[in-house]
Formats: sequence, structure tokens, C-alpha cells
Amino acid sequence: MNDAAFNEMRKEVETCARCPLAANRTRAVFGEGPETTSIVLVGEAPGAKEDESGRPFVGLSGRLLSELLEEAGLPREKLFITNTVKCRPPENRLPSKTESAACRQFLAAQLRHIRPRLVITAGNAPTRAVLGTKEGISTLRGRLRSCVWEEMEFSVLPLFHPSYLLRNRGRAEGSPIALTLADIREALRLAREFTPGF
Ligand code: URA
Repeated sequence: MNDAAFNEMRKEVETCARCPLAANRTRAVFGEGPETTSIVLVGEAPGAKEDESGRPFVGLSGRLLSELLEEAGLPREKLFITNTVKCRPPENRLPSKTESAACRQFLAAQLRHIRPRLVITAGNAPTRAVLGTKEGISTLRGRLRSCVWEEMEFSVLPLFHPSYLLRNRGRAEGSPIALTLADIREALRLAREFTPGF
């Protein structure tokens, strides 16, 4: 996909009506960041602030995620950040199977264009979508896996979802935040290995 086609897809997402989430959204959240990066971070779905602004991870949990990325030496500007579904589910519920299926082609096309070496999945929904597993995030987090998804090959590093971290703010050794910082540092190490100078 060339840059023009990528921008066309952005417009398509912004006006998409493939699933019922379109009816209640203020703005679809396409995602943001460099299209040449070797790391893409995929979250679950936009929340209220994201729906309002059209940007991913800008609410409370997004702010915490951004702080942790910065602290671990991987500022969010270096990643492309998006979600499994591009519109906000009512009451921030998890996206349904139909909604995720309707949006899957957009995530696949984004990854096909960006060609990341590493996909960081934040929370259960993106981790399960990409790895096709039913295992939960507490088992999967921090474990690097190779995967083939939609005929693309990349490594996947699952993280706790930042809204879980918001509810568990302690930083003691072994705490969810301490583990997440270690996971992000590992992502940075891998990115540098894959792309010298990252
Ligand atoms: N949670 C997500 O999973 N994605 C966002 O963009 C915001 C909150």
C-alpha cells in the first residue's frame, strides 16, 4: 500500500459504517505515529477522550501508558499506536466479535503498510486477536512470541492494559507497573536489535 492508499484508508475509517459502533461515535480513531517505525502498539478500543479527540491513548490510561513508555526510554512518538477497533464501544465495554471482525481488515492493512518487526499488544483483546489464543494477559504478558497473522510475520510482546495499571499503581518489585516497565525496556532492546539506530 502506498502513502496515498494509506491516507485513503484513514478517510475510509473515519466514515466507516461497517458495524453498529459507528452510530454512537464522535470520531473514529485511526491511530497515529510514524509509518516507518518497526514497532506498532495495538490497544483494545478508544475510550471517551479518544472518541472526543480522534487520537489513541490520550485519556487517563493513555497518559499513564505514555509516561511509562517515556520512563522506559521508548517515547510514544517512536511507535505507531492504534487499536483493534477504531470506534468507542458504549460504556467502554469490550468490543464484540462482530465489531472486531468488521475492523480487522483495517488493522491488517495498517500492519501491511507499516511492516513492523514487533507488535506490542496492550490487554486481552489485541493479544487474543493477533495470537488467536484464549489465554489471558497475566499468563501471556512479557512473553515474546513469533506470529503469522493475515500472512504477515512479526514478533508479539503482550503488555498489561494500562487501565489495569491505573487500578494497580504500586511500583514495588513484581508489581504490574514494574513488570510493564521491564516489558517496555525489552521491546526497546528488541527494536534496536531489529533496526540498528532505533
Ligand atoms: N484504551 C485502549 O485500549 N485504547 C485507547 O486508545 C484508549 C484506551
